[in-house]
Amino acid sequence: MSDSDTGAAGRSRGETVQVSAIELSVNGQVRRLEVDPRTTLLDALREHLRLSGTKKGCDHGQCGACTVLINGRRVNSCLTLAVMHEGDEIVTIEGLGDPEAMHPMQRAFVESDGFQCGYCTPGQICSAVGMLAEVEAGWPSHATADVSASHIALTDKEIRERMSGNICRCAAYPNIVAAIRGTAEGGSG
Ligand code: FES
Ligand code: FES
Repeated sequence: MSDSDTGAAGRSRGETVQVSAIELSVNGQVRRLEVDPRTTLLDALREHLRLSGTKKGCDHGQCGACTVLINGRRVNSCLTLAVMHEGDEIVTIEGLGDPEAMHPMQRAFVESDGFQCGYCTPGQICSAVGMLAEVEAGWPSHATADVSASHIALTDKEIRERMSGNICRCAAYPNIVAAIRGTAEGGSG
């Protein structure tokens, strides 16, 4: 096929693009949108709903910048399709809180100086909120000494292991750990 046979997106001329009409519950609001069914949740949030707080770092599941909460669980939104999430409760960094009414984890990141450039921060915060819920539910991690224990001690090793999917190029890790610890202990909440 010659170049003249394809459009800018590499599709044959005349080929129709299927569009799916979907409803997503995002930050407590039902949002209707029409998307190519191959649209990732990350792109739906950023490009269709203009919720640019969720960041695109690697776009293939390696950095955690795109982390959002779906039904309370942390998910890399670059690795899942928007059309898969009708009926789910999606929460982005914008839904956790705002400068006037910050979520305790957001406040803890500010108070602990848990960021430098801030690009990874929305993903770090969403991931940390989901992670503390996992600890509360008693889910062990690779760093848990006693996987049968009813209470998991949230050591720095536990926090680092459980947050290992969220990369920070500025290496603000010590302060990120401090922010999460502060929230877990109620100090910044
Ligand atoms: Fe999704 Fe990097 S942008 S993991
Ligand atoms: Fe810059 Fe984490 S604060 S990448």
